[in-house]
Amino acid sequence: MKFEIEKASRTGFCFGVKRAVDIVTKAAAEHGGIETLGAVVHNPQVMERLGQSGVAVVKNIADIKGKIVVTSSHGVSPEIEETIRDRGIEIIGTRCGDVRRAQVVAKRLADAGFFVVIFGDANHPEVRGILGWIGNKGMATSDIKDITALDPLPKYIGILSQTTQAADEFKAFAQQAVAAALVKDTEIRIIDTICHDLRERQLTALELARRVDLMLVVGGRISANTKHLAHLCATVVQTYLVETAKDIDTSWFKGCRKVGVTSGSSTADETINEVIARLEEIANQP
Ligand code: F3S
Repeated sequence: MKFEIEKASRTGFCFGVKRAVDIVTKAAAEHGGIETLGAVVHNPQVMERLGQSGVAVVKNIADIKGKIVVTSSHGVSPEIEETIRDRGIEIIGTRCGDVRRAQVVAKRLADAGFFVVIFGDANHPEVRGILGWIGNKGMATSDIKDITALDPLPKYIGILSQTTQAADEFKAFAQQAVAAALVKDTEIRIIDTICHDLRERQLTALELARRVDLMLVVGGRISANTKHLAHLCATVVQTYLVETAKDIDTSWFKGCRKVGVTSGSSTADETINEVIARLEEIANQP
């Protein structure tokens, strides 16, 4: 098997994940171990490595045993922060600046009387956090029918996006929302809150996907941005999402001349390098 391998120009940790991993690593070293409320980042390999440095994940506030807890890069709602503080537990936040921006945008819209629509996954921790910031004066969905079904349609609708959604899908959703509201006397305000790192990652991945026979997207299966990236690449070429080099199947590369590699924003360089090393091994097989 002979094929070329090319890595996209933007891979590895985004600045938000890098910052979160640095904060939690430092906290674990300073306090001889630390608890985090939920996974700080959505990547099992990164969380496993953090676990070896003394980071323990707890699912619920009631499970926190220590006096300090680290919250996720996806942010949490003010109610959750308050409940933690009421229990006398100190919070070390790792919320990314772009997530903070989405929370501020949503709150500003809600305070101005807008019904807030977050384009995204209602069950994702980031979206649940944003909904918490607007006192649930809105909804999260990626299905336009959930808006058109509102009867009556709110007079003021503010639309923003979960930071990790695909830019093209947000654009299509916003256009459909405008079309639905046009004849209904509704004012719509649309604010693009998709993270800048991801926007560039999606563009560079797509550019590479157009020049190769197969794409590998390296990242956590539960990572929203990794799934979107794989979905986007799959619109132009055969694409596989792999968490580690172990997921690679040699039969995928039959007849391939060039293979592209990109990654989600919470994938460590180490994991990407292992995937590329495995690809090199396969490419050099007789
Ligand atoms: Fe932040 Fe974007 Fe990363 S929202 S955590 S910089 S993917």
